[in-house]
Amino acid sequence: SGFPFLLRNGLSKLGAPDKVLEFLFKWMDAGVEYPKIPEAKGAFSAIRSEAFFIPLYDLYLTYGGIFKLTFGPKSFLIVSDPSIAKHILRDNSKSYSKGILAEILEFVMGKGLIPADGEIWRIRRRAIVPALHQKYVAAMIRLFGEGTDRLSKKLDAAASDGEDVEMESLFSRLTLDIIGKALFNYDFDSLTNDTGIVEAVYTVLREAEDRSVQPIPFWEIPIWKDISPKQKRVTAALKLINETLDNLIAICKRMVEEEELQFHEEYMNEQDPSILHFLLASGDDVSSKQLRDDLMTMLIAGHETSAAVLTWTFYLLSKEPSVLSKLQNEVDSVLGDRFPTIEDMKKLKYTSRVISESLRLYPQPPVLIRRSLENDMLGEYPIKRGEDIFISVWNLHRSPKLWDDADKFNPERWPLDGPNPNETNQNFCYLPFGGGPRKCVGDMFATFEIVVAVAMLVRRFNFQMALGAPPVEMTTGATIHTTQGLKMTVTRRTKPPIMPTLEVPILQVDSSVSISDPVLG
Ligand code: HEM
Repeated sequence: SGFPFLLRNGLSKLGAPDKVLEFLFKWMDAGVEYPKIPEAKGAFSAIRSEAFFIPLYDLYLTYGGIFKLTFGPKSFLIVSDPSIAKHILRDNSKSYSKGILAEILEFVMGKGLIPADGEIWRIRRRAIVPALHQKYVAAMIRLFGEGTDRLSKKLDAAASDGEDVEMESLFSRLTLDIIGKALFNYDFDSLTNDTGIVEAVYTVLREAEDRSVQPIPFWEIPIWKDISPKQKRVTAALKLINETLDNLIAICKRMVEEEELQFHEEYMNEQDPSILHFLLASGDDVSSKQLRDDLMTMLIAGHETSAAVLTWTFYLLSKEPSVLSKLQNEVDSVLGDRFPTIEDMKKLKYTSRVISESLRLYPQPPVLIRRSLENDMLGEYPIKRGEDIFISVWNLHRSPKLWDDADKFNPERWPLDGPNPNETNQNFCYLPFGGGPRKCVGDMFATFEIVVAVAMLVRRFNFQMALGAPPVEMTTGATIHTTQGLKMTVTRRTKPPIMPTLEVPILQVDSSVSISDPVLG
């Protein structure tokens, strides 16, 4: 290697600060020979297997926190290092775009918030974040409870009939029903019906997932769309969804026009407390196409992810009965048989920890995708603009370097008196909702949704893997699915219902009140 490189290294070993060295050597950068990113070789076939993030884990153990993977003309950087992840997602986020992800999702999300970059993203993010304000999420708790109650009735019937249930598809329907109401006040009612629109949503979702694991973009071949029966079905499904969304937007526009509007930060229409209503009432000055793209994006983002978290949480609980019974104790004493309220979200601490731990072991999505827009330094390695990057959240969350017993489901690793774990307090070793400016906008919504569903379900039922259930294996699209479903036996809990301790202020004797009481003097 060249002299400048040796000199720089030598100075660095003598303790010269990086910033100073960077300044000193900038002018001779052209001559500098930097270390090269390790290149994973001979592992390409492994990468085609079912869940592609699994072979990436083994490669991470061999090659470390950043390595290059090449197949044919394409190459990818795989990042599994918390400080590099922090650099890309937060510290230098402006130098990265969504890259491949935007290309894959364009057909369904258009320029919606997840694939959008640059100015469109900035404007849409600013419009959408306020719609998920605290009062709105609080109002949604009731909706989460009602949805879960519908699912409970289904499970109750199955328990009576002694029938096993496939929980993954039920969770998918639960979260579809919830997000439909929350976004645009539409009742898919997918837990009871299989209407055309529900089927269309699933057709489009499966297509998005297929495309994300397909090495060749068949769908870009112009006539393919017209002759492939599958592509024709996708086109028809998209048309139906778009028409439905346009219709909902039109209905909502009319409602807003008839309203005596006094818009403020916490604005909410009691009859229709939906995100769409908030956006229209806020005077969100945007084309119907953009609005539709954003709604579609949130429909997908807020549906599959939550369903996957519920699926893997119940799978993990079935493996650790001691965690389940501890969870049930908490729910019995905090909730009893009431519907949860916003106040309960703080009290259901162990429930939250169980979900945090489930998100550690099964992050949704398991990788985040970026493309560099400029030359940059990742750790000690220089990279060029145009590099496609996968940040493996799976690797971060299961790294033996970062966690004790990394593969163990152990909610106790998060102390109840400590903070709720997030990317900031875990210094980017833990990224359940991403981090930096592109962090999930639905994190609070999703967390509460899952807390409510888990709490209400374990309160009423015990869950076990069904006898002779297929083995639970993973496959990926955007989120981690099981290969053959999660078949469970659900039984009603025999415990008598425990009434929660009620906090009734009227019955409390408070001497301080009587002092200033106008009647008693
Ligand atoms: C972004 C996870 C639920 C809407 C993200 C990202 C992650 C994530 C990791 C960052 C993606 C990246 O950096 O490339 C999850 C998980 C959920 C969940 C695990 C459920 C447990 C929701 C819900 C909504 C939502 C319920 C909508 C109400 C979004 C949107 C973005 C996003 C719009 C893009 C934000 C931006 O780019 O500015 N989500 N999400 N998510 N999520 Fe979620």
